[in-house]
Amino acid sequence: MSITVYVPCDSASLSVGADKVAAAIARAAQQRKVDVRIVRNGTRGMLWLEPLIEVETASGRIAYGPVAERDVDSLFDAGFLHGKPHALCHGKTDAIPYFQRQTRLVFARVGVTDPLDAKSYEAHGGLAGLRKALSLSPQQIVDEVIASGLRGRGGAGFPAGIKWKTTLQAQANQKYIACNADEGDSGTFSDRMLMEGDPFALLEGMAIAGLAVGATEGYVYLRSEYPHAERTLYRAIARARELSWLGSNVLGSGKSFDVHIRRGAGAYICGEETAMLESLEGKRGVVRAKPPLPAIQGLFGKPTVVNNVMTLGSVPWILQHSGAAYAAHGVGRSKGTLPFQLAGNCKRGGLVEVPFGCTLRELLMDFGGGTISGRPIRAVQVGGPLGAYFDASAFDAPLDYEAFAQAGGMVGHGGIVVFDDTVDMAEQARYAMEFCKIESCGKCTPCRIGSTRGVEVLDRIRNDDRRAENMTLLQDLCDTMTHASLCAMGGLTPMPVMSALRRFPEDFQKA
Ligand SMILES: Cc1cc2nc3c(=O)[nH]c(=O)nc-3n(C[C@H](O)[C@H](O)[C@H](O)COP(=O)(O)O)c2cc1C
Ligand code: SF4
Repeated sequence: MSITVYVPCDSASLSVGADKVAAAIARAAQQRKVDVRIVRNGTRGMLWLEPLIEVETASGRIAYGPVAERDVDSLFDAGFLHGKPHALCHGKTDAIPYFQRQTRLVFARVGVTDPLDAKSYEAHGGLAGLRKALSLSPQQIVDEVIASGLRGRGGAGFPAGIKWKTTLQAQANQKYIACNADEGDSGTFSDRMLMEGDPFALLEGMAIAGLAVGATEGYVYLRSEYPHAERTLYRAIARARELSWLGSNVLGSGKSFDVHIRRGAGAYICGEETAMLESLEGKRGVVRAKPPLPAIQGLFGKPTVVNNVMTLGSVPWILQHSGAAYAAHGVGRSKGTLPFQLAGNCKRGGLVEVPFGCTLRELLMDFGGGTISGRPIRAVQVGGPLGAYFDASAFDAPLDYEAFAQAGGMVGHGGIVVFDDTVDMAEQARYAMEFCKIESCGKCTPCRIGSTRGVEVLDRIRNDDRRAENMTLLQDLCDTMTHASLCAMGGLTPMPVMSALRRFPEDFQKA
């Protein structure tokens, strides 16, 4: 009987040699005449352990990592195929504290199954949500999503069900589902991890959204930097069409829904929903004024639900288990779970799916284990390049949309970037402003001109050139950008800049 060995095939694992490890295991198995079946799974999200290989044993899956090609012979010698001890062994994967402490709803299958194995997808709960949706009316599907309290995971946190309701009520001969997979935020990778590790879940979520609002076509706007996700999605779409999970007769229901992929061109602003729609239409990614809302007049002027990968990826679970079951997780108006992503100077970087309400300290210390440099954490940026910088005084604040907004920040897409005590926060503030200067779409003056002037003002402050005067100017400029920018790119850039100034004033007084 063959022994199953799992070797991940997501881009993080591939970047540290997973293909070489898989080839070395196949070679060693052949030489030693043992029957090994290698399954390429997604990552479990414990990125510091990648390539993390697992062996299926009678007592469960046993994990070894990080495994290099040169470790393979010693693993065979130690009897890893039977789960035997080795310096790289972590015991049962499910019992590794980093993993065990999570509440994996959206990521339940990621790292467990072969992402393109349709049978395995169904065996692990896949399609149950879509089947349920097919038994409901569009309004009932929308009601279930409203009951779940699911809010947009792309950054703004708008209630998904309310958006769907608007599109359902819009009258049109064609409606669309546009999945925002641009994932431009610094330190974020949850969208990629789902698309590479469980692509059918996204397709299922999009099909459910289509049934809910009466859309028959869906587009995934995928960032160009994700070639592995693109390949996996293309294959998943082809397989889903073969199986009639997508197409003109979804699961034999007579209902139609299909998905297409469009690759982005590498601009941060193309993640903003209206710029994304422009780009999807083949135009330059420039922000559109709202109203009209995309839910009423979106892609090609038709009613369009724009949702993030995580939002749509949460929907199958909600339909399968009910909106109430989802809403049972989380706190206040922040329902369900959020896959936080730990990045930067973090000892145990990776993906942590937990209910809203956990604290930064739990994420940074219990999961992240502090910094990789071993030095104290001085600052963390939460919510991408437009998110605020926090110091240790905020580490005990619960992570939910409202509490974090009250603390002067935003949860955004759940990205957390860690810095140790060698960071220069004035430099980080300049970086935030320069990011806006480079990525501004140019449509409105406060952002286009303001960010350029902002970099100059910050340079003067850092060089102690009329520092007090320029501090006042910076405050004025940030007020203008916050209140007069057309979109959140210019509107939120002051958040990292001013939070750095407020929490780390000493860094602006150097030299
Ligand atoms: C500058 C900028 C960049 C954005 N980038 C992304 C992105 O990469 N992915 C994303 O899903 N949403 C992004 N958003 C948010 C989208 O505009 C929009 O709110 C989101 O796609 C809606 O989906 P959701 O409700 O499911 O979050 C960005 C917004 C702004 C202002
Ligand atoms: S704020 Fe910046 S990115 Fe947004 S519309 Fe204005 S110029 Fe474009």
